[in-house]
Amino acid sequence: MDLVEVAFTDAGKTVFVPPGTTLLAAAGMAGVDVATGCTRGMCGTDAWRVDCGAGELQPAAEPERSTLQRMGTTADCRLLCSARVQRGRVAVTGDAVAG
Ligand code: FES
Repeated sequence: MDLVEVAFTDAGKTVFVPPGTTLLAAAGMAGVDVATGCTRGMCGTDAWRVDCGAGELQPAAEPERSTLQRMGTTADCRLLCSARVQRGRVAVTGDAVAG
């Protein structure tokens, strides 16, 4: 199984995790603190910006998709508790930016 590289650029930390791992779990492995609430894609507390190629994260499913839409975030924001890596390299930076 190919591991996925997840880089937390603000913290300067990188971990390699199996496909299907959430970005929140990756943050935990990297020792990066993330403020969370529900951990189920509903509160939006952990909306961060991600930079990756197509297909490197699994597409947002419900309820993440609805929560991001309600928050009005930019298209590059995902909820760390819900976004799961798929392949390649994902860079995660800072907090969400309203669209
Ligand atoms: S912690 Fe609530 S949406 Fe992720």
